[in-house]
Amino acid sequence: MADRLPIMAGNWKMHKTAREGAAFVEQLTDELADPEGVEVVVAPAFTGLQAAVEAAGEGVVRVAAQDIFWEESGAYTGEVSPSMLADLCVKYVIIGHSERRQIFGETDEEVARKVRAAIGAGLVPIMCVGEIEAEREEGRTEQVLERQVLGGTQGMAPEEVAEMVVAYEPVWAIGTGRTATPQIAQEAVAFIRSRLAEVADPASAARTRILYGGSVKPDNVADIMTQPDIDGALVGGASLAVDSFKSLVRYERRT
Ligand code: PGA
Repeated sequence: MADRLPIMAGNWKMHKTAREGAAFVEQLTDELADPEGVEVVVAPAFTGLQAAVEAAGEGVVRVAAQDIFWEESGAYTGEVSPSMLADLCVKYVIIGHSERRQIFGETDEEVARKVRAAIGAGLVPIMCVGEIEAEREEGRTEQVLERQVLGGTQGMAPEEVAEMVVAYEPVWAIGTGRTATPQIAQEAVAFIRSRLAEVADPASAARTRILYGGSVKPDNVADIMTQPDIDGALVGGASLAVDSFKSLVRYERRT
């Protein structure tokens, strides 16, 4: 199995002012000191990116944006371009989160354009995919994941697939307290990896880091992390307090 460095990523969504985010990053950096074998990422709102990057300094915390636009500049009121994010020394960008797909109507085609734009600017995309509850109940989970994975990675080179991050987030598990069982998560993540192998090749897909997201908490993270294809977590609610995010970062990998 490829050696994949796990990632614990906190998606703050529309929470925390710039000042609150910077204070969080400073405290987390102090208290974590030097965590081994895990990458630590927080994703503030656009308004908090610069302060978070400054607070992170040369420490262990990396900063992600929660969205991006694909054009470099122009008449796109309200949007933020890839080079604007790169200029802030943001490293990652979450793309196609289910809230963007469901509330703002983002399509697979738009996700693909954003993923390409992020890579073009030297940012690492964290591309989110996941089925809604009705799709799972109707037995269409794999069909949905396949459409989202193939749709979002159109035209990508194998090396780009290897370097990107994918987050499997079943929509029914987000913010509901209903985590997918480790087995359900593993099955879906293994399926996603098999589709990435089709887009690229098996060796490249074996290097792609695939996270699980959806009600990850300090008391269930270790079980999720025992699964062979799961390389970390994208965490909403439990990433908002330093203590709980810190215990997520310090999960014990048991295999
Ligand atoms: P949650 O959110 O951890 O609050 O379920 C996860 C996400 O939306 O990324």
